[in-house]
Amino acid sequence: MSRKRVAVLISGRGSNMAALVEAAKAPDYPAEIALVLSNVPGAGGLALAEANGIATATVDHTRFGKDREAFERAVQAELEAHRIDIVCLAGFLRILTPWLVAKWEGQMINIHPSLLPAYKGLDTHARALADGATTHGATVHFVVPDLDAGPVILQEAVPVLADDTAETLGRRVLAAEHRIYPEALRMIATEYRLA
Ligand code: GRF
Repeated sequence: MSRKRVAVLISGRGSNMAALVEAAKAPDYPAEIALVLSNVPGAGGLALAEANGIATATVDHTRFGKDREAFERAVQAELEAHRIDIVCLAGFLRILTPWLVAKWEGQMINIHPSLLPAYKGLDTHARALADGATTHGATVHFVVPDLDAGPVILQEAVPVLADDTAETLGRRVLAAEHRIYPEALRMIATEYRLA
């Protein structure tokens, strides 16, 4: 079995990245985490990746000023240098241009802390609570140029409890994220061959 080479793009603590790294330790997992790339120097997740012997790269977007495409060309150069097949966005806090998204069409996925299409964007837990939602959750989806809009791969619903705060709800949603992201990556990294 040839394992797909995966890059995980992060900006912060990287707990979803860690869940992918753990899953990829199983010998029958169809993907290996070949690169963890951060746009934030010193992001917490980088140390965890290094501790697991995974190659890391930092492409600091502030070095490129307002030139998003120059930043993305630098990201793309890293992805090519590491011969990446699939890109997983995991708390990567940069909006991507159609140029980079088009390069990875069908091979770039993202995790979002809501049941899309509900609550695109930020502060999803507080917004769900403010609406009196009874069900919330997490979604893994393909990345398309529109924010949080691509085809859904996997979702897990999380019930909202009467005494939930954004923090308690967010903790349970994060646990769901850690379950569905490795499973969604398994699904898209698995090659189905006709016998
Ligand atoms: C997660 O809630 C993810 O859904 C969102 O950003 C957060 C990243 O958390 N896109 P972590 O860095 O994976 O811990």
